[in-house]
Amino acid sequence: MTSNGHPSENTRLLSGRRDQDTENQAPTACESNPKVRGVVWGTLTLLFVIAVILLVGFERVFGDAFAPWLGKLPKDPMLAALAILDKAPVIDTPRLQLTEIRHLSYDFEDLPILVRAQYANNASAVDLESEMPGHVDIPRLRKGKVGGFFWSVYVSCPDPDLEGKDFLGGTWRVRDTLEQIDISKILINKYPDTFALALNTEDIRKAIIGGRIASLLGVEGGHQLGNSIAVLRQYHALGVRYVTLTHTCHNAFADSCGFFSGMIPLHGGLSNLGRSLIDEMNRLGVLVDLSHTSDATAKQAISHSKAPVIWSHSSARAVHDVPRNVPDDVLELIGREEGKKDAVVMVNFAPFFVAEPNNATVKAVADHVDHIARVAGKQHVGLGSDFDGIGDVPEGLEDVSKYPALIAELYSRGWNKYELAGLTGGNLLRVYEGAEKVALELQAAGTSAVFDLYDKRTDIPKEHSDL
Ligand SMILES: *[C@@H]1O[C@H](CO)[C@@H](O)[C@H](O)[C@H]1NC(C)=O
Ligand SMILES: *[C@@H]1O[C@H](CO)[C@@H](O)[C@H](O)[C@H]1NC(C)=O
Ligand SMILES: [Zn+2]
Repeated sequence: MTSNGHPSENTRLLSGRRDQDTENQAPTACESNPKVRGVVWGTLTLLFVIAVILLVGFERVFGDAFAPWLGKLPKDPMLAALAILDKAPVIDTPRLQLTEIRHLSYDFEDLPILVRAQYANNASAVDLESEMPGHVDIPRLRKGKVGGFFWSVYVSCPDPDLEGKDFLGGTWRVRDTLEQIDISKILINKYPDTFALALNTEDIRKAIIGGRIASLLGVEGGHQLGNSIAVLRQYHALGVRYVTLTHTCHNAFADSCGFFSGMIPLHGGLSNLGRSLIDEMNRLGVLVDLSHTSDATAKQAISHSKAPVIWSHSSARAVHDVPRNVPDDVLELIGREEGKKDAVVMVNFAPFFVAEPNNATVKAVADHVDHIARVAGKQHVGLGSDFDGIGDVPEGLEDVSKYPALIAELYSRGWNKYELAGLTGGNLLRVYEGAEKVALELQAAGTSAVFDLYDKRTDIPKEHSDL
């Protein structure tokens, strides 16, 4: 081979020629003949155009089966929803019947007793891999593409006649809450291939990436704290990561919205002890949950909390007017602009909160999502189905396997995949990360634990005294 007949290194790499004989036999065919080169390029261009036509054409012919090859979401809303949920699974707050037994305790008082009695908190008797009586079990969680949820530990509200107006008679509720934390953890550990206890946002991400369902613990009412901020610290140590300030009853910390309208306020929002409770929740990184609270409690808590807040299961009052739903003047306080608080309102599916009797449907739930998104922003809405905490269910959202139907409905209303990924879990993760950051800052600044005591207590001296 002569040095001047040596084709350039580039040409050789591009044409894929390796062997010297070939080089020697036709050293000039391509390089020196513009006509040949023209034919080659022309052919390549033609092939490319044909390929594009085929791709686009096949998309028409085969429709959605071809969409992923084009990096597109399918046009069919249900297929699009499933594709989105594969990447951004649902993080919700459904309640297994064993943990949060009954929500609408005014309506269905016998159900908690029935369920608690049925299983007697015996984890051996519970098979979450088979079809459970309620709305939640492992096969349906998988079908619904759930990536994480809060196991809400719930103990019913005190009967004012038995507890006294100062709430001093109900400390056994702390025992029952501990029992519900215990049974939740036992069930999480019973299915290690399915559930992973999550204590922070990193654990949630790790669980989801590993194909497991991140399992968080939340306490569903301040009345479960036995009037004690020290109990909050111990619940936190056990893994509890949100506390709902109230359930359907007032407690020593804050006023509830009750269940039906006309609840008479007790503190006018937060008590002093309630503000101290929020301080300690901020310092520990326990999310402040405002579902069930009165509007005054919610407004004061938004302003007092240093950390973002959540509504674990509440819908929009402007869409359906019940006290449990969030009114617009509260929704207007949340956002990430100056003077607002980051927050996520996780929409409740309970038919009683969604629409008039018999009118709760997937579309009606989507109306709540859309309304909250319009007033507060799409980054401030999530899913808080309350499955297993509710007696009846909306049409089309019968259990945890049906989330894709709601995502499909919103997709067909124009929500894009990023907005939907926020709705299914991203928004909650951002808010939770915000709360983690506040906790780290407060701890780094050496903020003291809160030692305030409930002023109605008589069992402990108010001030240090020399004996
Ligand atoms: C718990 O349930 C298992 C399985 O049903 C049963 O064998 C066991 O006796 C139960 N334990 C108690 C204490 O009831
Ligand atoms: C229930 O929905 C139907 C159909 O959309 C509507 O005509 C009816 O007015 C609704 N009822 C109530 C009480 O809102
Ligand atoms: Zn609730």
